[in-house]
Amino acid sequence: MPERSAEPSAETADVQAPVLVTPDALTECITAVLVRRGVPDADAALLADTLVTAELWGHASHGVLRLPWYAARLQSGAMTAVTHVEPVTDHGALVVLDGHDGIGQVVTQRAVDLGIERARRHGIAGIAVRSSGHFGTAAYFTRAAAEAGCVAILVTNSSPAMAPWGGRTKSIGTNPWSIAAPAGRHGVVVMDLANTAVARGKVYLAAQRGEPIPEGWAAAADGTPTTDPSTAIDGLIQPMAGAKGYVISFMMDVLAGVLTGSAFGDSVVGPYDPERRSGAGHLLIVIDVAATGDPAEFASRMEQLVDQTHAGELAAWADSILVPGELEDRSRAAKERDGIRLAPATWATLRELAEESGVPLPPTVTGRTGTTGTTTSTTDGPSHPTDQEVSP
Ligand SMILES: NC(=O)c1ccc[n+]([C@@H]2O[C@H](COP(=O)([O-])OP(=O)(O)OC[C@H]3O[C@@H](n4cnc5c(N)ncnc54)[C@H](O)[C@@H]3O)[C@@H](O)[C@H]2O)c1
Repeated sequence: MPERSAEPSAETADVQAPVLVTPDALTECITAVLVRRGVPDADAALLADTLVTAELWGHASHGVLRLPWYAARLQSGAMTAVTHVEPVTDHGALVVLDGHDGIGQVVTQRAVDLGIERARRHGIAGIAVRSSGHFGTAAYFTRAAAEAGCVAILVTNSSPAMAPWGGRTKSIGTNPWSIAAPAGRHGVVVMDLANTAVARGKVYLAAQRGEPIPEGWAAAADGTPTTDPSTAIDGLIQPMAGAKGYVISFMMDVLAGVLTGSAFGDSVVGPYDPERRSGAGHLLIVIDVAATGDPAEFASRMEQLVDQTHAGELAAWADSILVPGELEDRSRAAKERDGIRLAPATWATLRELAEESGVPLPPTVTGRTGTTGTTTSTTDGPSHPTDQEVSP
């Protein structure tokens, strides 16, 4: 574990330098900030945990960076501090829930709890969620179901980020989806991705860090490619895999928005908007592995698949082969050991919120090397940078 340092203190830390904090202290601070805004203790702790977990996984784009946006939405009432989730229809294995514009993470966690319970009863459960909100990383929720012995698929829609293939009107969300499964001695395997070349949060993160974005991520409003994050935020994020990314995203909106009775297309409002209700919808499908056969046999087959994949020959540019979710597991292990590095701008906004709320900032710590540098190595392919690679 990193050591707490006497100097520099939270108050005197260089505003230009990133800081290191421990996950627990960061969670405590965020929870307190949310409780001061009227969020019940357990819901505040859940939302804080999702943000800190995103940081641990190396997805800072969905971490503390988001807290000021959520706080502004709580302040305006666009997102209600107390989340009421209500069933609209209940067919046993298929339930439609209304999140009544509550906190997306809280609504989704309730859907997961219900989905696991119903999958245990029926073998499979579909939970359709309307009028929810931005829920952060999809894997936070599918992993929980996989840890409970289920295969889970979760889809959400999100505010417009890309144009349909061949167009230049921003009308389709990044609409991420995640699939997770228990994997015996390997824990859980989990895929979680937005259908854009990159999650839009990574463009916001680059803008906050004052860095250019790689070519291929985004275009200006007129469709011209750009490496400037601010131009990209006002313009278009490119779909992943060309037209395929666009059509997947379109169909994810059919599942998460149209089917659930929630907002869809260009009517979904993002967390960046402090005033308007989100309207985001989600579809969760949970399958109880035990209902398909012997869970021990499933685990053994999963282990075989993972082992076989790991044993493949390496490409010249790579130093290892990872299965879905392993990159995040490695990042988590490193950051739990060394601390979470927060960008100066993120630290400044956290400080502002903490001061406003009368909540102490997490103490800064000294990493193993005594510096605040990135401690996680990645084995990303040459064309798909992660948060770590856009960081200084
Ligand atoms: N709630 C929302 O509206 C919303 C919108 C967009 C994105 N997001 C979230 O943002 C996060 C980031 O999305 P993203 O599309 O940028 O993800 P990403 O590109 O960082 O990762 C995509 C997937 O590829 C895997 N992966 C990446 N590099 C790998 C490697 N070298 N070897 C093996 N696997 C590898 C990851 O484990 C992950 O499953 C996700 O958690 C997503 O849910 C949420």
